[in-house]
Formats: sequence, C-alpha cells, structure tokens
Amino acid sequence: MQLPTDIADRLRTLDQPSIVQAWHSLDDQGQQRLLQQMRSIEWSLVSECLSLSKPGDPVPQAASLSWLHQARSPQALLMGSSSNHVLPCDALRTGRHALSRGAIGAILLAGGQGTRLRAHGPKGCYPIGPVSKASLYEILCGKLLAVARRYGRNVPLAVMTSCATDDDTRQYFENHSFFGLNSHHVFFFCQQEVPVLHATDKQFMLETPDHIAMAPDGHGGMLTSLAHRGGLDWFVSKGVEQLVSFQVDNPLIEPLSAEFLGYHLLSKAEMTTQVVRKENPRERVGVIVERDRTFQIVEYSDLPHLIADERLSNGCLRFSCGSIAVHCFDISFMIRMSHNRSALPFHVVHKAVPLLLSNGTIQVPENPNALKFERFIFDLLPQAERVSVVEVDRNNCFAPLKNPLGSQSDGPEHVQRSMLAKARAMMESAGVHVDDGIPIEIDCAHILDVDDIPHFIAPGTRMTAPTVVGRSIPISITVSETFHKTQGN
Ligand code: UTP
Repeated sequence: MQLPTDIADRLRTLDQPSIVQAWHSLDDQGQQRLLQQMRSIEWSLVSECLSLSKPGDPVPQAASLSWLHQARSPQALLMGSSSNHVLPCDALRTGRHALSRGAIGAILLAGGQGTRLRAHGPKGCYPIGPVSKASLYEILCGKLLAVARRYGRNVPLAVMTSCATDDDTRQYFENHSFFGLNSHHVFFFCQQEVPVLHATDKQFMLETPDHIAMAPDGHGGMLTSLAHRGGLDWFVSKGVEQLVSFQVDNPLIEPLSAEFLGYHLLSKAEMTTQVVRKENPRERVGVIVERDRTFQIVEYSDLPHLIADERLSNGCLRFSCGSIAVHCFDISFMIRMSHNRSALPFHVVHKAVPLLLSNGTIQVPENPNALKFERFIFDLLPQAERVSVVEVDRNNCFAPLKNPLGSQSDGPEHVQRSMLAKARAMMESAGVHVDDGIPIEIDCAHILDVDDIPHFIAPGTRMTAPTVVGRSIPISITVSETFHKTQGN
C-alpha cells in the first residue's frame, strides 16, 4: 500500500524518514495498524515538541536559568507555627469550614508510566502497605474517605490516567468498589500522548514494528485533558471551588490537610504549594524559587550543581524549598489557564525507553536513550496572581515511590520504613506504646489524624504485635515477609 499523501507530507515536514522506511517493510496488516495509529496522533502537539528538539539546540529550560542569580527561596508558611502571618488555628478553622461545605475537590495524577519502578501494571496498584499490603490507590482514596467521613461531605475526585494506565486503573477501582468512595464522585480522564524520539537522530522510536512508541504528555497534561473531557465543569457542578492535585506515588501525603487549605484560602492565593526543607543539596526534588513576587519551580535536573550547593551565611541552603507536588488551585484560576494555550509549555525529558532493534528484539537501556516531551503542572506557578508556599514536615508527608526494591533511595523499603515511622509517631502522640521492632500501620480510611486513634486503641495500651490500626483484627505477618512478597509483584 502507498503511504497516504497527507501522512507522507506530514512526515516529510517533520523530517521523519525512518518511519517511512519502517512503513515499507510492513505487510498489509502492519501498515493498517501503523496508519490507524498515525491517524490518531495529535500532530499539532508533535510539531510543537519537535521544534524543541532540533539537533544542536540547547535544552530550552536550562538556557533560561541565568535569572536564578537574582532569585531566592520564598518565605514559606510553616505548618503549626505561630510565627506565621496567618495563625494555624485560623487556618484550621477556615480549612475545616471549606471541607464541610464540600468546596474542595481532588485530582490524583496517575498517568505516569512508572518506568523506574519496573512493576507490572499502574504504579497506583503497587502493594505498598508495610503490614496491610494496601495499594497506593487504596491508601490515597482512603485518605479522601476519611475526610468525607469527618466532614460529612464527599470529596469529588478526578483520576488522571494515560493510555498505559487507563483500563487497568478503572478496572482496579471497580474491583475494589472504589475503595469505599461514592463512584458518582469519581471522574476518570485520560491524558494525551506524544511520540518518543531517539535522543541521537531525533527520529520516532518504534515500540513494535507497526507501533510508534508514545508517552503521556507529563503531569501538566492534566490541565488541557481535564478541561477537554469536561472535568472542570464536573467539579463546578459539584460545588467545588478549590482543587488539590497530588501524585500517586507518595502514600505519606496529606493533600487535604485542613490547615494547608486554610493557609491557601486566607492568603487568597490562586495557587498554593507544599514544600519540604531539602535534606541535602543534591536531593532529587524541584526547588521553588522567587524573584520579584514571581514563583517558579526549577527541576532538580535543571538546577546547576553550583547553584544547588550554595548556602546562606546561616548555613542554610540558598534554595531549600523542595517541591512535593501537592498544589491547591483556585478553580477559577484553573479555568482561566485552561483557555491559555501557552500556559504550559513542553519540556524535553531524557529517559530510558526500551529500544526495538532491527532483528526484532527489545533492548532495555541502562541510561537515557530517548527524548520524551512533558508539560509540568507547576509551570502554572508564575502565572498565578497570588501564590503561597506551605512547608510541611517531610517525616509526615513525603516518601515517594520511584525505584525498585534494592535501590539506594525512593524504593519500596524506604517508603515502608517512612510509613512505619509515621504510624509509630502517631501512636506515641495518642499515648499508645509500641514495642520496639513491632510494625504498625495506620488504616488511612479510618484514621485521619491522631484524634481518631482513641476510637480504636485506648491511650496507655501497649502494642506487641503487627497491627493495622483502624482495622479491628491485628494482622500477624512480619514486615520482612511483606517486603519479600512485594518484590514478586
Ligand atoms: P514521575 O515524573 O515520577 O513519573 O511522575 P513516573 O511515571 O511515575 O515514573 P518514571 O519517571 O516513568 O519512572 C510523578 C507523578 O506524576 C504522574 C505520575 O503518575 C506520578 O504520580 N504523571 C507523570 C502523570 O500523571 N502523567 C505523566 O505524563 C507523567
């Protein structure tokens, strides 16, 4: 079959001869499949991305960082601190009021391919609970359920998936009865995809001989996809005024903390973002920087080491606010931004993508070999009229799952250790003693905070067996067994 002229013209304009060659080597059925895929590609996005990756061009975001020399770390509101210009008790009262009015909605970003974790299926299905083996989805939905119970209002939740995760995610929610959430208050939407390019010759990569390798358009794809698929209208119809977005890979997260929401509301911010103090200069988190009341997040991979290492005279890092990707948006800001086509530009991201060799075998590279194109949701920060930054305690709020078991950082064992430590600290605060070495997990669906613990365990109790607090029956398996079992998944 001849390649249809419109597609052939497009490929010529985009300088993609290798895909034309691949086409000619296919049989009829293969050509049909490849044609069908090419007909579904959003070519305007592809042109935008390719314009970022012309051979020899500098990586655009790295080139524009000279202004960092005049920037500083923003003044963050510290959770629980009475030295904030907004008092924690006022923030709490305001946040609680908003939750009890049903004015808060949530967006769970779960479209990533989770390549580093190398687990089968969507990352959200990963059984991370150190005692319960609850999945990330169960834990995160549990947190929304606990909020809904406490405040007597459903929290509308939009879940962003991608082609890689959509079917499995929807099925997983169905199979688990939406983890107790009201299914009418859950909205799935699938983000867009763009082709992946070879890093060297900038040609499309093939996933199979008749399928171009595609990747989701980054967590920033959330804005357009949510708007196009009717998600913003859906939130408005549910009475939502503020939206909190968060990532699927952090089970410690406290996205709907009433105090956090209160700071956002009382600061009259269009966007408020949670940060932790960076642990070390090279920690792999984006930093928030401020210049002339304009805020921006600079990805760790774009922050030159010399700048990342800089310290102030008091010894603190010059850029110390590490983003944990929990953002609260005024919904009218989101709606305004959804009409602004240039609000979220594409970034080039270097990733390791499996390579189809000419002999038909797949090679999984150790190092980045490909260019992906992603939008970053935090690029909305500089567009917001008013921004506030809230510093949270990393021990309570940050343990991302990025890497497989046995990695040096951000692996399942690190995340589970953090979950156990947080649960132990909560039990101690509730006056419950946990014997050394006994793993305790909190059932997030039933325990929103320390105040809920006495409903399940009386102060003064001594815990001597592995337990999921919030579930009535202690679970008698050890943590090392759990590690072992998750390894097989
Ligand atoms: P990461 O950038 O860590 O990517 O995503 P990832 O897909 O989880 O993992 P790798 O890089 O392939 O190993 C951070 C968060 O943003 C979401 C992810 O699902 C995760 O919650 N995300 C990322 C999306 O929703 N869509 C994307 O296109 C990219």
